[in-house]
Amino acid sequence: MNTTVTVLGAGYVGLTTASLFASSGIKTFLVEPNESRLKSIKNGRSFFFEQGIDPVIQHGLESKNLIPTDSYAESVPESDFIFSCVGTPDRPDGSSNLDFVFSAAKSTIEHMKPSAIYVQKSTVPVGTGEKIIELFRENDHSAEYVSNPEFLREGTALLDTLWFDRVVVGGDNKESAQKVLDLYKHLETKRESISKLADIKTGEENGEYISTSLASAELIKVTSNAFLAMKISFANSIAKVADATGADINEVMYAVGSDKRIGRQFLNAGRGYGGGCFPKDVSGLISSSLENGVDLDIMQAVQDVNDSMPSYIIEKIRAKFNGNLNSKKIAILGLSFKSGTSDVRKSPGIKIANLLSKEEVEISAYDPQAMSEAAEDLDKSITLHESLESTIEGADVVIFTTNWPEFISYPTDKIASLAPNSTIVDAMNSLDSSEVRQHGLAYLGVGKS
Ligand code: UGA
Repeated sequence: MNTTVTVLGAGYVGLTTASLFASSGIKTFLVEPNESRLKSIKNGRSFFFEQGIDPVIQHGLESKNLIPTDSYAESVPESDFIFSCVGTPDRPDGSSNLDFVFSAAKSTIEHMKPSAIYVQKSTVPVGTGEKIIELFRENDHSAEYVSNPEFLREGTALLDTLWFDRVVVGGDNKESAQKVLDLYKHLETKRESISKLADIKTGEENGEYISTSLASAELIKVTSNAFLAMKISFANSIAKVADATGADINEVMYAVGSDKRIGRQFLNAGRGYGGGCFPKDVSGLISSSLENGVDLDIMQAVQDVNDSMPSYIIEKIRAKFNGNLNSKKIAILGLSFKSGTSDVRKSPGIKIANLLSKEEVEISAYDPQAMSEAAEDLDKSITLHESLESTIEGADVVIFTTNWPEFISYPTDKIASLAPNSTIVDAMNSLDSSEVRQHGLAYLGVGKS
C-alpha cells in the first residue's frame, strides 16, 4: 500500500500496530524515545513478552518497512497518518494523566504535513479530541483528527488486531475516517500470512468496521473496558454469596453465561482484575464523568469490589488456619497481572504478596516471564525463586494468582510431594478441586465452598 505511517510510542499498542502495518507492506516509522527499548526493537525483539510479536518485528525490519527511530523530524514530515499510541497513566486521584498525549500532539504539529491525518489510539477521556483539534487550529494546522480506539488484549495482541471483533473510527470528516478504515482493510487482506509468520492461531469470524462521531468513539473505548470490569466485579460479588451459601460460582456463571444475552466471557471470579487498563479506565471514567456532572456510582462499586478481592482471599486463608498465619510458608505462583504477559502493572498477585508480607509469614514467589519486572514492586522480604518447584517446596499454602498454562497443568501429585498437606488457594478458580483434594491437599477457591 503506497502510504506512510508514523506510530508514536512503542508500548503494547504502538509496537503491535507498527509492526503489523509494516509487515503488511506499509512504510511505518515507530517513534520511541526510550533508548533501551528502541535498541531492543532495532535488534528485532520486543522489550516485553508478547506471543508471536518478534518474528513480525523482524519481518518489518528485514523488508525495511519498519523504521524504529527516536526522531519526530525524521518520521512525521513524510507521513500521511500519525498514530498516537502514547501512555495515559492514572493520577493518584484516579483521573487520566494526559501529559504524554498533549506533548506528542505538540511535538508532531511542527513537522506534520497539512494533509496528514492524526489518529488517536491512546485511551483518552471523552472530549480530549476536541482539545487537540483546538491545539492544531491555534497552531494554524489543518490536519484532520480521528479517534481509533484500541481493543487488543496483552498476551493476544496480534490475534486481537488481525482477527478483530470491530474496528472503530470516529471523526467529523467522513473521508478521513474512511482512509483510516482502509488501512485496516488492507491489513485484513494480509492477516493469514502474518498469522503464519507469527505462528499464532487464526480467528474465525469477520469483524465489523464501525464509523462514529469523535465523542462516541472516545466513549466506546472506556465503556467497553468498564463493562468488562463490571462483569468481573459482578462475578466476584456473586462469588462471595456462593461462599456464604455453598453454591459453586463456576457452575453458576457457566449456566448464567449460557444465556447469549449475557455471554460466558469475563465472568471468571477470582482475585480481581489488574493491568494497565481496567483499573485506570474505570477510575478515569468515574473521574471524567464527574467533571461532566454525572456521578457514575455503579463504577465506583465495581472498583470497590475489585479492591476488596485480595484481602477477601487472604481472610479466607486466615480462617482456614483458625485466624493465625504466624510462621506459615506461603508460595505465590504468578506475578504478572494475568498469564501470557510480563506486565506487572496493578498485578493482583503482587498485591496479595505484599499484603501477606505484613504478616509473620515467609513468602516465596515465581513467575515464568515477569520476575525482573516484579522485583521492583515486591516487598523486600519476599524471596523470588527461579522455578515453580523451589517456590512451592515445603509450603503450607500455595496461591495460584495467575493461570499460566505451566501452573495449572502442573501435576498435582508433584505438588503433593513437594508441599505435603498444603492448602492450595485457587485465586483464579482454574483448578479441579476434587483432583486437589484427592491428593490429600486442602482446596480454597473463590466462591467454590
Ligand atoms: C483489556 C481489554 O480486554 C482489551 O480489550 C483492551 O484493549 C485493553 O484492556 C486496553 O484497554 O488496552 P488487558 O488489560 O490486556 O485488556 O487484559 P484482560 O484480558 O482484559 O484482563 C484484565 C484483567 O481482568 C486481568 O487481570 C485478568 O486476569 C482479569 N480477568 C479477566 C478476571 O479476573 N476475570 C475474567 O473473567 C477475565
